[in-house]
Amino acid sequence: MSNTAELSVDGKTYQFPIVEGSEQEKAIDISNLRDQTGYVTLDKGYKNTGATQSAITFLDGEQGILRYRGYSIEDLAAKANFLGVAYLLIYGELPNQQQYQEFEKSIQSHSQVKEGMQTILNGFPQDTHPMIELSSLVNALSAFYPDSYNEKAGDTEEHVARLLAQLPTIAAWSYKKAKGQATVQPNNNLDYCSNFLSMMFGQAGEEYKVDPVVAEALNTLLILHADHEQNCSTSTVRLVGSSQANLYASISAGINALWGPLHGGANQEVIEMLEDIKADGGDVAKYVDMAKNAKQTGFRLFGFGHRVYKNFDPRAKIIKKAADDVLSKLGVNDPVLEIAKGLEEAALNDDYFVSRKLYPNVDFYSGIIYRALGIPTNMFTVLFAIGRLPGWIAQWKEMRATKEPIGRPRQIYVGSTLRDFKALADR
Ligand code: MLT
Repeated sequence: MSNTAELSVDGKTYQFPIVEGSEQEKAIDISNLRDQTGYVTLDKGYKNTGATQSAITFLDGEQGILRYRGYSIEDLAAKANFLGVAYLLIYGELPNQQQYQEFEKSIQSHSQVKEGMQTILNGFPQDTHPMIELSSLVNALSAFYPDSYNEKAGDTEEHVARLLAQLPTIAAWSYKKAKGQATVQPNNNLDYCSNFLSMMFGQAGEEYKVDPVVAEALNTLLILHADHEQNCSTSTVRLVGSSQANLYASISAGINALWGPLHGGANQEVIEMLEDIKADGGDVAKYVDMAKNAKQTGFRLFGFGHRVYKNFDPRAKIIKKAADDVLSKLGVNDPVLEIAKGLEEAALNDDYFVSRKLYPNVDFYSGIIYRALGIPTNMFTVLFAIGRLPGWIAQWKEMRATKEPIGRPRQIYVGSTLRDFKALADR
């Protein structure tokens, strides 16, 4: 195989190196394209653009493969715990016992969120969407830890531990504020997921008994969401960080990107869509038809298909099984879930959906489990953010460590050509 690609343009031929990844993915390195040819590439939505070389997550969309640092998502979801996976993503290897304990301890030692942060939170209206509070408070952390502005002066590892420790606390505070309840302090005797559940569902001053089924389901969901290579929010974190913006500012930007309904916000949209179908009489067939005639009806099915997975989303397979287990263990009987099953059935068997590869994705099932666990709909994307945090951190650190240049795409200008300015009176 040749290790260069040829491009002929304007009667001249140019050579560009071919780069091969460790899983034999191939890319044409066009870093010098504009210098050599005067051309740039146009790739809206970056469908064909490898924005970076990364050693964190491998994804094969055709075969439905997802691996973190070489470990399959199936293995990690079945055998690991979320903090171990966070360590793996951020530091490249699974921790040994001592490394795990030290990692957990350093996170716990940063679990107290400053009082001033509570004041900021209380300034938001009661019904503020929690993703707004999450991104604002994460950004505000830079103000409380100003050494984060200057990477050379600051201790990145301390900021990493603080973010992992405090994101769940901020999320739980936001929930408590919306409910008009007092906040529950972090409990360092509990594991990461149980501590979050205790801060969410416990009452201040009372001991809260965490249901191990719920904690285990949350652990699985957070692992499944922990990284997904260069998705929209991760690309945002890397792009913002490439300007040397600090870790908190970069993660805050990632949270905002995740909130969009076409990205992490889809899990909220899925349940809202199911609730709308239920409120309209629960006629699944009618909505399946509407989805098939989307051009006329304007109805869009959330939670089906995926930009990079062409056959199935491996996370959805794991999560579907987890959803079945959790629902039967918790004895949940919810009419919305019946509607979900009807849509799933249609998507898996109806040729319209099968031929378009519109199978249920991870967002479809995650919303269903979160609902069964008692997490309110507007907190679903917050849970996604807690899961994705180690991935964002790992990607931000990798981008800094490999000294990537500031991200600065080009464009093809399609606006007016040079025009003469007319005074206001003459327009
Ligand atoms: C994700 O996990 O980030 C989503 O599936 C979206 C994506 O990868 O593009």
